[in-house]
Amino acid sequence: MKHIDIYDVLNNPTLIGQETVVCGWVRTFRDSAQVSFLELADGTSFPRLQVVIDKSALTVDPECTKLGASVRVKGMVVKAFKGEGNELNASSVALLGKCPPEYPIQKKRTTLDFLRTIPHLRLRTNTFQAVFRVRSVAAQAIHRFFHERRFFYMNTPLVTASDCEGAGEMFRVTTQPWNASYKTEEEYYKNDFFGVKAGLSVSGQLEGEVAATALGKIYTFGPSFRAENSNTARHLAEFWHVEPEIAFAELPDVIEIAEELLKYLIRAVLAECAEETKFFDTFVEKGLIDKLTHVAESDFAVCEYTEAIEILKKENARFQFPVEWGSDLQSEHERFLTEEVFKRPVFVTNYPKEIKSFYMKQNADGKTVAATDLLVPGIGEIIGGSEREADYEKLLTAMKERKMDLDAYKQYLDLRVFGSVPHGGFGLGFERFVMYVTGMENIRDVTLFPRWTKNIM
Ligand code: 4AD
Ligand code: MG
Repeated sequence: MKHIDIYDVLNNPTLIGQETVVCGWVRTFRDSAQVSFLELADGTSFPRLQVVIDKSALTVDPECTKLGASVRVKGMVVKAFKGEGNELNASSVALLGKCPPEYPIQKKRTTLDFLRTIPHLRLRTNTFQAVFRVRSVAAQAIHRFFHERRFFYMNTPLVTASDCEGAGEMFRVTTQPWNASYKTEEEYYKNDFFGVKAGLSVSGQLEGEVAATALGKIYTFGPSFRAENSNTARHLAEFWHVEPEIAFAELPDVIEIAEELLKYLIRAVLAECAEETKFFDTFVEKGLIDKLTHVAESDFAVCEYTEAIEILKKENARFQFPVEWGSDLQSEHERFLTEEVFKRPVFVTNYPKEIKSFYMKQNADGKTVAATDLLVPGIGEIIGGSEREADYEKLLTAMKERKMDLDAYKQYLDLRVFGSVPHGGFGLGFERFVMYVTGMENIRDVTLFPRWTKNIM
């Protein structure tokens, strides 16, 4: 069916005076004595197309006027009678699919909670179309950012035997029958598909390090899986993960690239999704555009973990989990720092080694590692990264302290044997970024089919 996008009909002045065909779903229908109006959306643009029906010349099947029905309209593109852009004077309206009155997406604003129960239909709403257009634009901008800087795009394994974060949050991958019975765990895995314990990757970082220590600058952008039992508005069992890894880089270089990336992405969304961000500013988060414009132009803060603890300790009375040096920061602490203290994005650096991963570079103080988390208002942690331990002996010690299976990490250790270099990188949670730029407060509302504990489609 040869038709053109509503986006083009609305925006292309050279179409004025031309016969065209558009397809879409009915959003509104208004009737008056001589003319009636159909508003159509096809997902390509925020504004909808107004179709004008001259009742003396054209009789339209009433099914074509029902909310949610899909139609094909032929007509002449004309300048809009009122307002900007173009509209369509219909010469024919054909029904593609009718839509009965039980269509759950009705005009009165439905709640996000309700829409979450109908993930297959919620994308017909303005809010979700805007979210997913922003998501797509941001994904393109991620590739552009790295491509422009000669970072090479790597695809790291999704099914893997290596547990990067070592936090026991891996989903297992197995072909063993449910009632497989073996005397030992070892025997069970030996008879499994890969002959060892395998799972879904929680991060592409370890393989990213392999690539970076040969190609210099690389990034991965793909799904990561976490079997963490956290039923929160910021966690998914499957999320998209942007992970650059850079050779010959130390923690300040990692921080610089992270800040540059975030600002680049925000500018891209503001420039390419003007209609969408205006919508979010009006209906979802008042002041969103000002916030984003300001963030894209000002410097992010940097704060040592030790200093952050000093600040937080003075406020311990207000927290559910009071902190002391050595505490892992909870969401309440992260948000307090970025929202109340710094009032902008803040990189917290140099965390105690006990609360961070084995691969992080050990600082000279013997107590902290060269890690950083970027915290942003409204979300908390959006990026986690570090300089990596490049010293073989130090890395080995950290792994032994954690009782890790050294054989399984032989190749990773080899990178420290053969031409080891300082290097580092970070992981940006893509959905958390989309939440940040749209103002959406629940990660389940920026994902097509969100999956979390006890919830899967
Ligand atoms: O802080 P994380 O666990 O760091 C890593 O995985 C490192 N290996 C990254 C690296 O250095 N290459 O995860 C990084 C980011 C978090 O800051 C968060 O934004 C996001 O990934 N994230 C999640 N997003 C949604 N749901 C989850 N369950 C997430 N877990 C982490
Ligand atoms: Mg983290």
